[in-house]
Amino acid sequence: MIFTVAIDGPAAAGKGTISKAVAAHFGFAHLDTGLLYRAVGAKVLAGGEPVAVARALDPVDLEDDSLRTPAVAQAASEVAVIADVRSALVDFQRKFAARDGGAVLDGRDIGTVICPDAAVKLFVTASAECRADRRYKELSGKGLDVTSEQVLADVRERDARDSSRATAPLIAADDAVIIDTSDLTIDAAVARAVAVVEAAKRAVG
Ligand code: DC
Repeated sequence: MIFTVAIDGPAAAGKGTISKAVAAHFGFAHLDTGLLYRAVGAKVLAGGEPVAVARALDPVDLEDDSLRTPAVAQAASEVAVIADVRSALVDFQRKFAARDGGAVLDGRDIGTVICPDAAVKLFVTASAECRADRRYKELSGKGLDVTSEQVLADVRERDARDSSRATAPLIAADDAVIIDTSDLTIDAAVARAVAVVEAAKRAVG
């Protein structure tokens, strides 16, 4: 059974949490596509050439805890602007989406570019302040030396770059269901996502 759930949205809106929960609920595989761009960004920070690095990316490169730092997030957002980097990563994502048993992919362009025919498209968003506040708590909880002002500025900078780039900008697909998590608990946001997927599953039988 091929059943793809595309979950897009800006940084720290809750797509990762929702994606993992939806995948666990339905027994689908999950791919955080941000990790692909983060892995390329990390290799570029280490001196690599973006397109060459993207073409040579290995799934093992995604299993690296150091990909979760703000510096790597910015580098990811910068390499994500390069059209040849994006096209080097398309096949891997589409193959993952078409795997037997169902798949959840979260990112920025899954419903618009990678899987325009996905069975379900969600666009998970929240206000910039709310997302920065969550990211600040997450990063400072990990012991990283950040200020809330700096995190909000980073979130805004990344939003602007991700939304304004020419290739595959961050935008909700016309047929996406929007979930604004600003005033939702995690459980409520997950329940909403699960209900949308459930309805789509019923519709395809
Ligand atoms: O989801 P994330 O914060 O880990 O993503 C890091 C960056 O990677 C993000 O700022 C933009 C880029 N990205 C993208 O352009 N397309 C995707 N499908 C996923 C991430």
